[in-house]
Amino acid sequence: RPFGKRQAMSRIIEIPSARFSSPAWTAQEQASAVEQLEGSNVLFIPGLSVPVHEDERILFSQDAALTDGVQKNITLDPYLKKTSGVAKDSPYRSAAEALMTRYRAQTEAWLVRLLGDVGGKYQAQRTTFRPVEIRNRKALGKVGDSKQFRFDDTLLHADAFKRRPMVKRRILRVFNNINPFGETRQWKVGGDFADYAKRYIGKIRQPLPGEFAALNLMHLTHWKRSHYDHIMLHLHDLGKLDRDFQDNSPQTLFEFPPNSVWLCFTDSVLHAALAGRYALEQTFEITIDDMAHPEKSPQRILESLTGQQLC
Ligand code: SIN
Ligand code: FE
Repeated sequence: RPFGKRQAMSRIIEIPSARFSSPAWTAQEQASAVEQLEGSNVLFIPGLSVPVHEDERILFSQDAALTDGVQKNITLDPYLKKTSGVAKDSPYRSAAEALMTRYRAQTEAWLVRLLGDVGGKYQAQRTTFRPVEIRNRKALGKVGDSKQFRFDDTLLHADAFKRRPMVKRRILRVFNNINPFGETRQWKVGGDFADYAKRYIGKIRQPLPGEFAALNLMHLTHWKRSHYDHIMLHLHDLGKLDRDFQDNSPQTLFEFPPNSVWLCFTDSVLHAALAGRYALEQTFEITIDDMAHPEKSPQRILESLTGQQLC
């Protein structure tokens, strides 16, 4: 039985929000949702949103002085045990923390409803509030830095982080557009991960002996990078720097309306955010051993392409 409505020619699968209030899902529907996520689709639920309390409306204020003006996101990080991106004494801070804490609990509940027991295996990591208009945030990072393109999320990419090696873990992100001004969040969703990897894999150098241990000793990573992460970082940069790939690879534009939720594995779904402000995002991690089909992970796809064990 088909589950959700697939948009023509895209990886976006729509689920009615009523499915989040009506009776619990059948095990079969949950298994189907797992298949769709692991198959690098985006699950999209219009009409679903976390409630924003009256005293949190300050978060929609246009007063830039309330944030730290440097970071694009406000981040609640359970690993670093801190909130960043907002001035310490700002009233914006307590409102953002309250909303992000509620969002985290809400997304955990949504995942269990959607995916069943396996939803409980997803570990909640960072929560972000994204108040900044994407159109205006292109030039982040140090001015004149030749690596500035890395911060430009208007370019198609699969997520990979320099300081946070994923090793055997996946990145699942749950977004919620909470824009109170009726503005959509515009995304591009790209083509197949294996095609993306094949395009660049021959250009990526082998890691140097001891390279990952050295990076970790110098505190350039929070823990030790794997060969898998090394490849993912190179793919991220090579794809962002490739104009032909950006302009001509398969891609679909999609606008997520206010009060909608969408989720996908952002380490295998090629994506770019073009416009929009005021979104929430919760990152979850799961090890590939807990997937229904580990062979669909970017780890296993890259291992089969390179013929090497990577993590
Ligand atoms: C990204 O993950 O590249 C940005 C997504 C967003 O902020 O909508
Ligand atoms: Fe991304």
